[in-house]
Amino acid sequence: MSFSRQVKIAPSILAADFANFGAECRAIEAAGADWVHVDVMDGHFVPNLTFGPAMCAALRPHIKGVMDVHLMISPVDPYLEAFAKAGVDRMTAHLESGPHIYRTLQAIRGLGCKAGLAINPGTGIEAVPYMLDDIDMIVVMTVSPGFGGQTLIPGQMAKIRTLRAIIGDRPIHLQIDGGVAISNARALVEAGADVLVAGTSLFKGGSPENPAPYAENIRALRAAAEG
Ligand code: DX5
Ligand code: ZN
Repeated sequence: MSFSRQVKIAPSILAADFANFGAECRAIEAAGADWVHVDVMDGHFVPNLTFGPAMCAALRPHIKGVMDVHLMISPVDPYLEAFAKAGVDRMTAHLESGPHIYRTLQAIRGLGCKAGLAINPGTGIEAVPYMLDDIDMIVVMTVSPGFGGQTLIPGQMAKIRTLRAIIGDRPIHLQIDGGVAISNARALVEAGADVLVAGTSLFKGGSPENPAPYAENIRALRAAAEG
C-alpha cells in the first residue's frame, strides 16, 4: 500500500472489554477504524500488565486490516520474533527501552514488519535525525505510558511540530498516543500528526452488541481531526 498522510484513526483495545477482544476488534473495525492499536505492557517498563504474543496471535484472525502493536516492554528484542510470528503488521518500540534501539528497529524490519519509534513525554528527540532511514513511524507519547484515560500533556505539542519538520517528505508516519479526544484532534493534526491513537474516547458508550456509538465516536474524531 502506498504511503499517505491522510488522517488514520487507531483505536486502542486497552479501552475495550478484556473478556471479549475478538468481538471488540471486529466491531471497532466495522465502525470505521483504520488501524487496531494493541498495547503490550510488561509491569516493568511501565507500571501495568496487559498481554503478549499469544494474545496477538489469537486476535489476528479478528483484525482484517492493520494490527499496530505498541511494545511497552524492556527488554524488547527477545520478543520481536514471537510478535512477528503472531502476524502483527507494525511494531513500535520505545527509545527508552534499552541502550540499543537502533538494533531493535532493524530487527523489526528484518522480521518483515513496519518499525515504529515511541518517545516518552520526558525524553528528548536528539537521536531521531540519525534514525530516519530505519523507521516507518514516530510515536509521540502524550501521556506517561501505562494507563488509558489520562489527559494529554499540552507541552508535547511543540515536540510534535518539531518532529513533523524533521520528517519532511519522508514516508514516516507521526502517531500520537495518549489522551486524544475531539477537543484536541484538530490541533494535533495541525501540528503534524497523521495517526491518532485513542482508547477511552473511541470505545465509550458502545459494545460489540451496541456498536453504533463506536461508529459515531470514530466519525466525530475524524471530522474534528480533518477540520
Ligand atoms: C498508554 C497507551 C495508549 C492508551 C491510550 O500507555 O499506550 O495507547 O491506551 O488510551 P487513551 O486514549 O485512553 O489515553
Ligand atoms: Zn499505545
